[in-house]
Amino acid sequence: MRQIVNGESITLGTCYYPEHWDRALWAEDLDRMLEAGIEVIRIAEFAWSKIEPREGEYTYDFYDAFLDLALEKGMKVIFCTPTATPPAWLTEEYPEVLNADKEGHLYRHGTRRHYNYNSPIYQEFCRNIVERSASHYGKHPAIIGWQLDNEFNCEKDQFYSESDTVAFRRFLKEKYKTVEGLNEAWGTVFWNQTYTAWSEVHLPGKTNTGTVNPHQMLDYYRFISDSVCRFADMQAQIIRKYCKAGDFITTNGIFANIDYQRMNRESLDFMTYDSYPDFAYALWDYRENDLMKDRRWSRNLAEVRAMSPLFGIMEQQSGANGWTDRMEAPTPRPGQMTLWALQSIAHGADFVSFFRWRTATMGTEIYWHGILDYSGRENRRLRELRTLALKVQRLQETAGSRYVEKVGILKDYDNIWDAQLDRWHGRVEEVSQDSLFTALQLAHVPFDYVYFTEEITSEALSRYEVLFYPHAVILTKERMNLLEQYVACGGRLVMGCRTGYKDLGGRCVMEHLPGLAAKLTGTDVVEYSFVAPDDGRVMADWDGTLMEAAVFNDLLEPLGAENDEEAGAAPRVLARYASSYYKGTPALIRNHYGRGEAYYFGGAFALDTARVFLQKLGIGEPYGDLLRIPEGCELAVRRKGNHTYFFLLNYQKEMAQIEIRQPMRDLLEGGTVQGPRTLEPYGVCVLGADI
Ligand code: GLA
Repeated sequence: MRQIVNGESITLGTCYYPEHWDRALWAEDLDRMLEAGIEVIRIAEFAWSKIEPREGEYTYDFYDAFLDLALEKGMKVIFCTPTATPPAWLTEEYPEVLNADKEGHLYRHGTRRHYNYNSPIYQEFCRNIVERSASHYGKHPAIIGWQLDNEFNCEKDQFYSESDTVAFRRFLKEKYKTVEGLNEAWGTVFWNQTYTAWSEVHLPGKTNTGTVNPHQMLDYYRFISDSVCRFADMQAQIIRKYCKAGDFITTNGIFANIDYQRMNRESLDFMTYDSYPDFAYALWDYRENDLMKDRRWSRNLAEVRAMSPLFGIMEQQSGANGWTDRMEAPTPRPGQMTLWALQSIAHGADFVSFFRWRTATMGTEIYWHGILDYSGRENRRLRELRTLALKVQRLQETAGSRYVEKVGILKDYDNIWDAQLDRWHGRVEEVSQDSLFTALQLAHVPFDYVYFTEEITSEALSRYEVLFYPHAVILTKERMNLLEQYVACGGRLVMGCRTGYKDLGGRCVMEHLPGLAAKLTGTDVVEYSFVAPDDGRVMADWDGTLMEAAVFNDLLEPLGAENDEEAGAAPRVLARYASSYYKGTPALIRNHYGRGEAYYFGGAFALDTARVFLQKLGIGEPYGDLLRIPEGCELAVRRKGNHTYFFLLNYQKEMAQIEIRQPMRDLLEGGTVQGPRTLEPYGVCVLGADI
């Protein structure tokens, strides 16, 4: 059996870099980790030169010494392949292994992830070092699993090397067989882009308008994902030949342009995620009035859960963060390190490994703090880790429990990638995804992301009371069939504007919109427009409740007889636009289909709108009769057999008042609790009940 992420235990770990420290520190470091409750370390992900200092010269002396010590101390180890950082001798001798920018300039040695996945020479070097390491360490008793590379597609998620051009042509040839097929799919008759030979086809590089053929771009994202998945699988297959039964293979994410469901299915035992919630205070997500901040990382955790039902956290924030020249996040406040670790566990992680043990004293990441500062002296964060380790012991019984969801948000990579290249799609998606997540969080409705993968069945969909598929711009017959079955069997589906106007290649369809979704939603989109800036917030009126139809408006008509009481099942207008020249036009239609209902809303879902939907569909506060929870706290629910666990997480600087409305076990404090209860700033409470 796997030693961690096995559905049976919750384990703490840390990331350690023996190559960064004097050997004299190793033993004491390991002792102090073990004493603090760390049972697993991850090592060697950037250490190629320690193993192959010169081409073809392999030595394992360094890691042999360290791993033997780890074994002696009883520390378990995740060993990594070092392919994220090719050595200088390699990139100097074989510059073709480097990634390039759109203009073809090579990214030089000096940081990391500067290689490309498709260079045959790089693949050869990687095969060799993975084969050597796996055969040398495959049976080492201290090793419990392997990490592939480090953060595929971090830093750069686009590739423009010569090898990528060659591989892109191969990928397209496999897909379209002939140049004519490619011309048809990419609509190259537009602007005279017609190709006559494969050699004329290039990566979507620099153009005079800065834009490229959108169908080419969509295929380019698919190609990148395909390249990463193949590269990962090449390594995984080698490791599997040598590793012990029960040792696992994982990688850490999550980054753009990767179909992680495919990677997980083909090559991994489970995914791990690198969680740095404090970026909420420093990076793209920071807004004064942002209701979610670090709580937004629960969205990423829901994403990992969708990729890999069992998962771990390979890097969990434990200190202030920053590179010397960018990205800054403050030191976690007292309690926040625990809050974020328990946020991960609440969402299903059963391995949480802190990044990193001691902060680096050299290099780009001298400000990327770990548990310890440079000196390694005892500090507040280490003390907090010890307390956390005790809490985790008290949560062991929750291991293997499943996150309980009420609502699903449907996703697929075709639409994710289309939204990256198409602004009209991207803007609606961004607003709706953020609003739905926030509204569900505020109303304490646990949800899942549900991906349309090859394996998904209508049965899998049927466990969700409500499914949102906010802007399925690209629709396929197969996906619609599943949705029709889901609704026919009693499900409720909500779709938003811009549904169904593209095919899988990203070409617009000529059917009346919403295309393939017309029948299920009973909706006809007769006209549409971007919300004009001088129209302000266009509102829709749903039985006297006003809600914004944000960003884009589809002007709707019900298909067939409207409001015909006799017909009963006919599509019904529930809301109409309340402003702009289309005031009075239907904005929301509900169609009964089989035993269920499909809703078509003409706008993107603003936050107020998402909240109205939850309320009108009767899905807010599903645990309201058991728990009263303020909006500033998250509720995550996990279940195993007839045991239900409620994780209540307070992300605020202030105390939070909760009310427990029936006797429950307090897993962290012990005893049975009921009635009013105070949660400390950043405090967490885990309650158990046999329901
Ligand atoms: C990622 C990497 C780590 C570290 C941090 C900080 O999460 O996996 O190696 O570099 O970023 O940049």
